[in-house]
Amino acid sequence: MEVLIAANAEEAARFAAKAVIDGLRTRVTGDPVLGVATGSTPLGLYAELARAVGRGDADFGKTTAFALDEYVGLEGTHEQSYRQTLVTELCNVIGLPESRLHTPDGHGDSEERIRAQAAAYDAAIVDARIDVQILGIGTNGHIGFNEPGSSLRSRTRIKRLSAQTRMDNARFFDGLDAVPTHSVTQGLGTILDSRRMVLVATGSRKAAAIAAAVEGPLSAACPASVLQLHPDAVVVLDEAAAAGLRNRAYYDDSAAGLQFGI
Ligand code: F6R
Repeated sequence: MEVLIAANAEEAARFAAKAVIDGLRTRVTGDPVLGVATGSTPLGLYAELARAVGRGDADFGKTTAFALDEYVGLEGTHEQSYRQTLVTELCNVIGLPESRLHTPDGHGDSEERIRAQAAAYDAAIVDARIDVQILGIGTNGHIGFNEPGSSLRSRTRIKRLSAQTRMDNARFFDGLDAVPTHSVTQGLGTILDSRRMVLVATGSRKAAAIAAAVEGPLSAACPASVLQLHPDAVVVLDEAAAAGLRNRAYYDDSAAGLQFGI
């Protein structure tokens, strides 16, 4: 695992964009496949990717994207659906064609139908193989909507949202009652299949979750700790999110080595 600690959120976005673009370039055959997250954290990263496009350093016109998760019960056209959010905050920003954006389908007339859609989505990811999976982290240590207690080998499925997550996300809805209770989320096993993971966290509210994920035990109690199992996990933090880390000096030494290509 590489832990990169930036001076602030803007620098973290630049570090993360470089990790994403470098990771996509390593694909040998076929068009690149990107795993994408919603939420507030990746917005700076998406703006940096747009800048890279402007400079001619990246082009997402032939990139396929798979979203981490979607709310159950919201149609893909709903304003707060993750599909619509990603069209606005990702596709329109970095020039990724909407037709190349895949999102789980959390809408259906029965639970059985939604389960079948989740299984088909997982199979499509296995088929495509994600080159770089972008991740945020919840204050409770979730990635995607894999809440504490999620199986470390789980696949895309319906998952109940925790009370903490619903409160954290109420800011996007007209109050807590309007926040869906369930999601369809890539599982931790699905996320681990990606060739590179780039997790970004900023702000002091994420410090405890980051300390548990990076330096705590591998445990379903902190789903993001599965990063410890991945051979190419990059964790990009600002100072506030890194505040709880004990091995800080080592991460800084290691990152300095990276600048020299070691
Ligand atoms: C979003 C997702 C979530 C968020 C996490 C952090 O697709 O999968 O895991 O990344 O809840 O959200 P923000 O960035 O809004 O703090």
